[in-house]
Amino acid sequence: MTAGRTLAVVGAGAMGGQIAYQAALHGYDVRLISRSDDRLRSASTSCATLLRRRVEKGTLDGDACELTLARVTLGSDFAAVAGAETIIESVAEDRDVKREVYARICAHSDDTAIIGTNSSTLPSSVLEDAVSHSERFLNVHFFNPALLMALVEVVPGPHTSEDTIVRAMDFAQAIGKTPVRLAREEYGFIANRILFIAIQEAMRLVQGGYISVEECDLAVRKALGWPMGPFHLSDLVGLDVVEAILDEGFRQTGDQRWEPVEMLRDLVARGKLGNKAGGGFTTAPS
Ligand code: CAA
Repeated sequence: MTAGRTLAVVGAGAMGGQIAYQAALHGYDVRLISRSDDRLRSASTSCATLLRRRVEKGTLDGDACELTLARVTLGSDFAAVAGAETIIESVAEDRDVKREVYARICAHSDDTAIIGTNSSTLPSSVLEDAVSHSERFLNVHFFNPALLMALVEVVPGPHTSEDTIVRAMDFAQAIGKTPVRLAREEYGFIANRILFIAIQEAMRLVQGGYISVEECDLAVRKALGWPMGPFHLSDLVGLDVVEAILDEGFRQTGDQRWEPVEMLRDLVARGKLGNKAGGGFTTAPS
């Protein structure tokens, strides 16, 4: 337990919400900031449900659960980042949106705060000019679902100081995660670079008529030990997110392995985004 530490999370989507509650679970006072009341409400409701289920299952103490929920303050005012020694930005993967958010963060943040972007596709070096003290700025990349997935990738840019890297590693550890430190930026970092190329290969096999979606998922689970097959996982991540990660990978590297396959493009174009909307490879339309 880490008492007396403060985290601000900006962006209350599926990732930001769970990052906030993960830190609260480990004793952090957390300010969760979003421009959308609906997102804030939905993050707090869904995380409360997940944590209370742990209480029912006997894996989390009831008082600890209620204390965790009370440690997260919700709001839309960026002034709440003042006093936080760590700030995680987890807003849309859009350079302009992120730049605007950094301007607001930097208007209120403490001079010593580190800012970690949870971006999967934008290395901090393409955004660092929007941050006042870029020596305290880097990628701190979580995985979905963040309340469960242990890995955090800590990725410095050329502008990031050693002290910031060490603090980001310590922060990830303090909230119960397993951090890995990259030496330098690379598209997809480590896990996504391996994962999304593998997902593309799975889609090529199905598209080529070699196997069905269900049997491909089964094969990958049984042969490679993945907890979910590539199609089930794509539905969890969101097919629009999978497409955007692949598109950006192709744009940034020019490597055709990243270019989204036709069947993915087609599903996204028809509004089939996976679990969150419209159904996907393995889910019924919602
Ligand atoms: N959020 C939070 N908790 C969830 C959840 C979710 N979306 N889905 C399930 N859980 C919880 C359940 O509540 C349950 O918790 P308890 O044990 O406390 O009750 C636990 O997970 C197990 O649930 P299930 O038995 O229903 O399902 P499962 O055994 O298949 O586990 C899983 C679910 C942990 C998600 C597992 O399937 C898994 O590890 N899948 C792979 C996930 C993965 O690879 N993520 C990386 C995606 S890529 C990414 O995130 C990078 C990026 O940049 C986009």
